[in-house]
Formats: sequence, C-alpha cells, structure tokens
Amino acid sequence: MFEIVERKMIVPNLHLLVVHAPDVVEEIQPGQFVIVHAGEGSERIPLSAADWDHQAGTLTIVFMEVGTSTGRLAMLKPGDTIPTVVGPLGKPTEIDHFGTVICIGGCFGMGSIYPVVRALKEKGNTVITIMEGRSKNLLYWEEKLAVYSDKLIKLTRDGSYGYKGHIKKGDDIIRETGIKPDRVIANGCMTLSYKTTQEYAHFDVPVMVTLNTIMIDGTGMCGVCRCTVNGEMKFACVDGPEFDGRLVDWEELANRRQQYIGEEAFLVHHSGCGGN
Ligand code: FES
Repeated sequence: MFEIVERKMIVPNLHLLVVHAPDVVEEIQPGQFVIVHAGEGSERIPLSAADWDHQAGTLTIVFMEVGTSTGRLAMLKPGDTIPTVVGPLGKPTEIDHFGTVICIGGCFGMGSIYPVVRALKEKGNTVITIMEGRSKNLLYWEEKLAVYSDKLIKLTRDGSYGYKGHIKKGDDIIRETGIKPDRVIANGCMTLSYKTTQEYAHFDVPVMVTLNTIMIDGTGMCGVCRCTVNGEMKFACVDGPEFDGRLVDWEELANRRQQYIGEEAFLVHHSGCGGN
C-alpha cells in the first residue's frame, strides 16, 4: 500500500497529491508518469510526475478532478493509503544542452513541466517558461518555475494576470523579443499540445508535446493509446508520451478520441482548457 502524505486543491479543480512511493521515486525522470489506482471500483489513471523527493521517497502529482476515479483521489487525506502506484512509465523527456528551450505548461502541465524546466536549467540551457491558464486563479507554482527559468511568461485568456491571450500570444512575445528557440516542449491537455504545435512549428525546431491519450495498462499491451507519428504506429505509453508534434497524425488522434467525447466535454468544461 502507498501512503498519502499530502492532498490539497491547489487551484479550482486541480489537486496536488504527495504519495510515499520510494521505489518509483528512485528511478523517475522528468517527463515520466505513473498509473494510480485509488481502490476497488476505480479506474487506473495515468498521471504525470510533477516533483519528487529522493530522501523522503515521495512523489508529487498534480491531477484534475474529472470523474469518479479522480474524485476518489481528491477525497484522500494524509495517512490514507492507495493500493497501486505503478511506475515510472514512459520515456523520459530528452534533457540535453540544446541552447534556448521554451517550456510551456497549462493546466496539470504547469506541474509536470516543472521537473523538465529544472533539469534543462541544470544542464545549462536558457529556459523560457510559459504558464498558460484561463484566469489568474488557475495559475500555480509560479515561484517554483521562476527559480529555474531565465524568463517566465504568464498568459491568461481573460487578461487577469500577465499577458492576455492563449498559446499564440506566447509565440508573439517570443518573436517580438527576438528569442530564437532551439526546442519547444509543452505539457498539458491535448488542446494545448495541438495548439502549441500549430503556433510554434514555424521556428523549425522540435516541438515536443505530451500526448495524453486514453491508457489502460500503460505497458504497450492493450493498444488503447495507439497513435501515428511520422507515419509509424506508436504507443503513447511506451514510445512516448512525448513526441514531436509536427510529426503526429492529429486527425487520427482526434477520431480515436471521439468515443470518449462525453468525458472530454466534461474535462474541457471544468478546466477551461480548449479556449482560444
Ligand atoms: Fe495500453 Fe498503451 S496504455 S498500450
């Protein structure tokens, strides 16, 4: 059993969960995820790692409450236990000395981009971080991200904090300031991944996005997370979850997700994701 150390709502509908999982933490790297199971009757949920503490053996996750299973996670209190935290899963984000890297986080991705930002900075990159949300009250971890960012750009769609706009506005700012990125990395919902690919592809550098496909086993066995990248069939759970968005067959991905449209609509409604 895995003990819950902390659970709190950090912004409306997004929760921070700290769980004691020393074996997972020992191996985990930026960009990887775990599958969490809250107990009988719950689904297995893939959730990205947002932070970890090797000494304490704790893993931090930021997740959105979007249904029964995440609703159960959102009820957890310190001292409670959950039966399953499997991981680390997926390929880590490639961390190298690229030069200048734009890191974009929206929604739960403001959490999962944090270890990526930290690792890139520690590798000597110039890191430009963009936080994106519908409104000021949906942004979090500004101070944590600022520590490892050479420049931190805040975007809100209603203009209540930072610059007013969505992903495209971030691109405008980058261009106006003459920054020439060597790589773009985005963490967040599928809409953010798609829009980032659309708006940043003109830089002609890799636009690495996380594909949050539906997953079941997370080990390449069930095929649910299948996608096409550069004309080849890939499984997001073992070949990803990060891919160069310029090579992703977005149309196929959208069609495959149609069967989950009800859940998606719920997610979009509650998160404010998907706005322009
Ligand atoms: Fe089953 Fe990826 S989740 S193959």
